Formats: sequence, C-alpha cells, structure tokens
Amino acid sequence: MRLFFALLLLLPTLARAADPAPVASAGGMVVTAQHLASEIGADILRRGGNAYDAAVAVGYALAVVYPEAGNLGGGGFMTFRKANGETGFVDFREKAPLAATPTMYQDGRGHLRPGLAIHGWLSTAVPGSPAGLEFIRTHYGTLDRATLMAPAIRLARDGFVLTQGDTQIFDAMTPYLRREPALAAIFLHDGAAPRPGDRLVQPDLARSLQQIADQGPDRAFYHGPIGAEIAQASKAGGGLITEQDLAHYKVRTLAPVECDYRGYHVISAPPPSSGGTTVCEILQILSGYDLHAMGFHSAAEIHVLAEAMRHAFIDRNDRLGDPDFWKNPVAELIGPEHARKIRSEIDPLRATPTPKAADEAQEGANTTHYSIVDAQGNAAAITYTLNAWFGSGEIAGHTGIVLNDEMGDFTGKLGAPNMFGLVQGKANEIAPGKTPLSSMAPTIVTKDGKLVMVVGSPGGSRIITIVLEALVNTIDHGMTIQEAIDAPRIHEQGLPDVVLLERGALSPDTRAILEGRGYKFRDTGYWGCAEAILVGTPALTSQDYGNAGALPLNAMPPPWAKIFGAHDVRGGAGAAVAVP
Ligand code: GLY
Repeated sequence: MRLFFALLLLLPTLARAADPAPVASAGGMVVTAQHLASEIGADILRRGGNAYDAAVAVGYALAVVYPEAGNLGGGGFMTFRKANGETGFVDFREKAPLAATPTMYQDGRGHLRPGLAIHGWLSTAVPGSPAGLEFIRTHYGTLDRATLMAPAIRLARDGFVLTQGDTQIFDAMTPYLRREPALAAIFLHDGAAPRPGDRLVQPDLARSLQQIADQGPDRAFYHGPIGAEIAQASKAGGGLITEQDLAHYKVRTLAPVECDYRGYHVISAPPPSSGGTTVCEILQILSGYDLHAMGFHSAAEIHVLAEAMRHAFIDRNDRLGDPDFWKNPVAELIGPEHARKIRSEIDPLRATPTPKAADEAQEGANTTHYSIVDAQGNAAAITYTLNAWFGSGEIAGHTGIVLNDEMGDFTGKLGAPNMFGLVQGKANEIAPGKTPLSSMAPTIVTKDGKLVMVVGSPGGSRIITIVLEALVNTIDHGMTIQEAIDAPRIHEQGLPDVVLLERGALSPDTRAILEGRGYKFRDTGYWGCAEAILVGTPALTSQDYGNAGALPLNAMPPPWAKIFGAHDVRGGAGAAVAVP
C-alpha cells in the first residue's frame, strides 16, 4: 500500500520523464538563448572571470548573435546573489525621454494611436543596456572591458554561422524585415531570410562595440558619437530622444522583492518591474493549498493557479509603477493577510469572473533571459529586452544598433484600450524620465541560506507565470529543472477573462471539468524561453526527501556534479553550457 502511494506521488515526475537530463557541471554554468553566447560566458568562467564578468560578456554577445532581443539599444534587470550571500538588483531599464507626455500617443481628439507606441522612433525610450553592462562590470566583475567585449566584437566583425535555431526568427519575420530597409540590409540576404549555414556579419555593430570597448559606454554612447547619432536619427524620424536624454541616463540599484514559499526563499525583481511582486503574491496565495497532492495540472491545481494569477494580475495592472513616481504597496501585495483575503474570495467550485473595472496590461512578448552560476556560487539572473522582436525596427545611422520600442509598455491612455484592446492604469502613466512597468522577473531562490535556483524568461506579461510555474514545478512537483521549464504552461492575467493554454497543458477531461466550472480557455501554441539553473541537485525532490530514486534514470546526478542547467526546449538556438 505504501508503495502504491509513493508511486502516486511520483506520477507528476514520471509523466515528464522523456525530457533530457539537465546539463551537469562541477565548475559553473551559463544558460542563454543562443549557444555561442553561452559558450562565451562559460569561456569567461573558465578563464577565471566570475558570474558577473560572464554576464557582461554574454550581454554584449547576445546583442550580436541574438539580435531580435539581445541588445545595446534596450534595457533590462539583473537580480544577483553573491557567494557571500549578499543580494541585489540592478535596474538598467529604459526611461521615457524628457519631452514625453501622458498623451503623446493620442490624437487631437484624445483617441489612442497605439501603433506609434510600438513602432518607429516615437516608440523608443532612452536605452540602458550599455550603462547597465558597464555598471555590472565595474561593481561586481573582475575583468577589463576589452576582454569581456572581445568575443562580441569578433562575432560582429567576422560573422558567425547561423543554425536552424537562429534562422527561424528571420523566416518568421521576413515580410516585416522587408518593410524596414535598415533591418533588411543587415538581417536579410537579397531580401530573403538567411539559411542555416549562412554567415551573419555586422560590421557597423562591430564598429560601435569597438568604440564602446575603447572609450567606455559613457564617452562612446551616452556622451559621445553613438549617442549623437541616435539623437540625430531620432529627431529625423520624429522621435523624442535627445543628447540631453542620453546624458541624463542613470543605472539604479534597488532592493529586490523577497518572499518565502514552502521553505524556499525567492529573490526577484522589484518595481519598476511587476515581475517579482506578482510572482510572490501568487506564491503567497498558493501556499494555502497542497499543490503536490493535487498533481501537476490537475483540475484542482489549475483552478487555484488560475484564480491566484487572476487576482495578482488585477493588483499588478492597477497598483504598480516606477518607484520614483509611484508608491508601490509591495509589502501589502505579497503579505499573508492579502493572500488570506484572496483565498477567502476563491470559490472552490466556480471560476470568479474578473471585475470589468480591473485594469489590464499587455506587453510585447519578446525579450531574452540568461542565468549564470560560477564555481564560487555567485549567481546572476539577467533579463533584458528591446520589447518587440527587433524593437522599434529602427537603427541609428551607421551604428548597427537596433533601438527598443519600450514606450509601448506604458499606459497609452487612461481607461482606454491600448493597441491590444487592453486597458492600463495611472500607476504606469507616461512621464518624462519615467521607466515603464515591466513584467521581467529575473529570479534567484535560496534555501537555508544556500543558493538553489536561478531562473527567468522572456514572454511579456507571461514572464510572470512562466517563472511561477518553474517554481511550482520544481518545489511542489519535484520535476527536474529541465522538466520544470519544458512542461506545458497556462496563463491567466485577469483580462481578457480567459486562461491561455500551451499545447498539451490540459487533458480533454480536465478541460471539461474546468469548463463546467465556468472557465474559458484559449489554445495559444507555445510561449517563452526559460533559462534556468539548479544548484546541488537536478531536482528538488532528491534534496528534500533524500529520494534520488524518484528521478528519471537519465537525470540521476553524476557524483561530481553540483550545478545543473536547463535551456527551454522552446528556444531553438540556446544552450546550457557547463564549465567542467
Ligand atoms: N517589455 C517586456 C517587459 O519589460 O516586460
């Protein structure tokens, strides 16, 4: 009988047993959305650099080899935990130009013109990535700029051979790229998408990178020739970014959002991201339910997941914004009292319709995340973005630098649907110098003072539920880190009042049970690309229960291994690369 129940407990893990084993390492791990960038990060670790050196080298490399989201012309966040236990958060996200106004995307009659916020120069916010990478290098790294930038410069100057995973984006976006001459000149070959085996060479970008390497981002970019070219191109294209905007740009450090879940400590992104707060709010609600006993994506689990997500997103959309402009009630939202109240409002037998008054946010779904752990135990979780794939579609002059469309993350008009037919709140209204609300959630998990996990993903507002499910799948369901991020996902964000499903996320009978309770579902293919690392074990089951026998045979940890990396099966070009 005991064996029967033990087997039942293992079912969620066994159901995912076909996944490959996480990549095992003794000396460090770099997981990114492009395999060459992962190799570059691992090489920096091999050569004695720490996780933050590798993070800088990877950040520059992805701008070359993952140009749809890796960037110099966007912004992002790093959540970090040093080997000595110190934690922190670096905010190098974009800021609205000084000439930005709350109504800049409305016509004379107050109607929203949503296209302006996501395409062209008017959609571009002041980039933070070059300043952020330099801040990380000088504050936490150990190696010089030239060493960390050399691989990216070489890849841009000499080019690199594209794989099928690399060319998929060019195939998918060929019609769009054809309409953008500056992008087409770089990323299409005679108007056609490059094929696997072709070489992508970016001489203009190589020159810009070399300028930054030689002079530093401050002199080359924010107060120098690259900035001047950006300001000039922005003005010519009807944008707002000036040399003064660039000169004013500053990186911020902020205290991360931290919360506890079933004995694990979660460290994640604070406002101006909604990511960490919303993940923690959902976890706090879920802590009142036994998800392990419910089973992975059972009707019971989906019911409480969807309701917890719904309530947390209603708060997220209405109550969070840039902390320099808005008082964020983070402690209240992630606290036990708020979670208790929400649980008391969840009807165990019916879906709760989202109140129509709730604001709703939607963001471009295209960003990239990378996770790094070095041999000493320093951890870096970095998510950075251009917002949409290839951002605004603009490149400044001959810089080769693709510019973001991050202004699209702001509220375009209070109380009116944005370009997605959605409504956002006052907390995220546009103001000069303000950072738009993000969903990026670079996240680190510890237990009993020891590093356990590094995780994050692209996916717009779905980033939050991707990270959430990675945590639930490892902590509650004992999946290996590879299974946890590959498992099919669900997403509920309040409005539209529908649960999004990846292929295979629900069995037909589970779906029928939930439809009987009032849930509406939308089948939506696949989303996100999580990059994750577990430390000490490939699955938390073995750590918690001394139950390594529960792991699929191919995921049994080699005796020498202590770091386990997983690149999401949804991303065709990425890799987890181990340092032996
Ligand atoms: N632009 C995507 C995000 O920041 O959430």
